[in-house]
Amino acid sequence: MNKRPEWLDSAVFYEIYPQSFKDTDGDGIGNINGITEKLPYIKELGCTAIWINPCFDSPFGDAGYDVRDYLKVAPRYGTNDDLVRLFDEAHRLDMHILLDLVPGHTSWEHPWFRESMKAERNEFTDRYVWTDSIWESPEGYGSLRGISDRDGSCAVNFFTHQPALNYGFYKPSRPWQQSMDSEGALATREAMKDVMRFWLSKGCDGFRVDMAGSLVKNDEDGKGTVALWQDIRAFLDKEFPEAAMVSEWGEPRQSLAGGFHMDFLLHFGESHYNDLFRCAKPYFGGEGDASAFVAKYIDSYERSERKGLICIPSGNHDMDRLAKHIKGDNRKLAFAFLLSMPGAPYIYYGDEIGMNYVEGLVSKEGGYNRTGSRSPMQWDSTANAGFSTAPSEKLYIPIDPDPARPTAEAQLNDAGSLRSEIKKLICVRQAHKALQSLGEIKFLCDGAYGKPLAYIRSSGEERIFAAINPTSAACELNAGGKPGEIIYSFGPEPEITEDSVTIKGGSAVFVKLS
Ligand code: NOJ
Repeated sequence: MNKRPEWLDSAVFYEIYPQSFKDTDGDGIGNINGITEKLPYIKELGCTAIWINPCFDSPFGDAGYDVRDYLKVAPRYGTNDDLVRLFDEAHRLDMHILLDLVPGHTSWEHPWFRESMKAERNEFTDRYVWTDSIWESPEGYGSLRGISDRDGSCAVNFFTHQPALNYGFYKPSRPWQQSMDSEGALATREAMKDVMRFWLSKGCDGFRVDMAGSLVKNDEDGKGTVALWQDIRAFLDKEFPEAAMVSEWGEPRQSLAGGFHMDFLLHFGESHYNDLFRCAKPYFGGEGDASAFVAKYIDSYERSERKGLICIPSGNHDMDRLAKHIKGDNRKLAFAFLLSMPGAPYIYYGDEIGMNYVEGLVSKEGGYNRTGSRSPMQWDSTANAGFSTAPSEKLYIPIDPDPARPTAEAQLNDAGSLRSEIKKLICVRQAHKALQSLGEIKFLCDGAYGKPLAYIRSSGEERIFAAINPTSAACELNAGGKPGEIIYSFGPEPEITEDSVTIKGGSAVFVKLS
């Protein structure tokens, strides 16, 4: 049994893209001290934990997902000491910090890669996935070719400048493909443990792991990668049993078996997550269909032994902002759903105030269409929305030019704002174990076209009926028990009988069952 930090069970996360959160030194880009300064804001919202996108030294060809030095905070964000101060301050406020671990690839500027490009054998020759001839490319992967003295092509994981680290092949079939237990593959694994050891011993609480399911190559059903993570978990259990691990994998059946505590629902692949928030007719827009999402969710839930550990994010740095597709009070309904599901909820910075996707921006640091979701946090109505004192043309990404853009300050002081509703929802979640990460879920209505989403969340004796109806039609639902106290409601009040709840269009309700 993997060790499990208790704080994770009631955690509500806030994701920070450090470039765009808060700049305290006037250079136009966010920094670590800015995050520390704003911890009280995040705590006041009710979030208990933070995931920070990569903040390490990097040439920033992929916003920091191209690491050049895993052990050094990028100078533009501050120093390692600043990050340690952030850990300390978060702990003082009873909050926790996950760093972003990128174990699958580095930047092509990483000294490991520079060494591995050399023709003569050295310690790093096998650190990456290389073929043994420039004329052969690693099948199934993109490749980097023609820039090394070494005769070979190197597999890449994402962009061309992100060479794939070598954790071995599940079933090697070419002479250059190394096995998982080859010396080179094991050395890479140990090097990654050293990175984790470095930050955990400085006080970080764990990691969100980038592309966690991609490490072992030609590993179709993930068996090799699961075994690799089990080994890493065994190391953590021994040296850092409190370390929390959350995977970007999208297959909880595999990731939880690998020792991760939680896995993310991804916006690509088969999850149908986009059906809810980001498609031509998203469910929470009021005219969509959530049933394919629910079917897939139940399938993952059952196949991971009903461990409700699938984290559903409001958004992230890779997808359109939720506010682009979901308007007005429907955003509140979307959050009523996000904050009443199993697994830890993740709120992407600015989603709590309904920040918009900024259209028409030039790509920044490999952002491309993602750039519009990475614009600076809108704190208040002062210059640069309170993000930075730099001249506006020096900002990392321009502020949303909309004169009606939302700000944190205005929403903090408005009881009817999206932020206030989210704060209320987090409070309700924190007061009821059934609504938290490990509470079970049973769907009563799958949000097929024109229908609400309804489910029972339970933990021990506590059972809570939750229904969310972004459609315009009222719907009578069997509550699966005797409805009692209403612990949360938004929109027109429901009608409640001995055993049913009629939920009106445009409303949400959580009711205790006896
Ligand atoms: C997933 C990250 O979320 C994304 O931003 C990044 O570009 C790729 N992985 C590559 O690391």
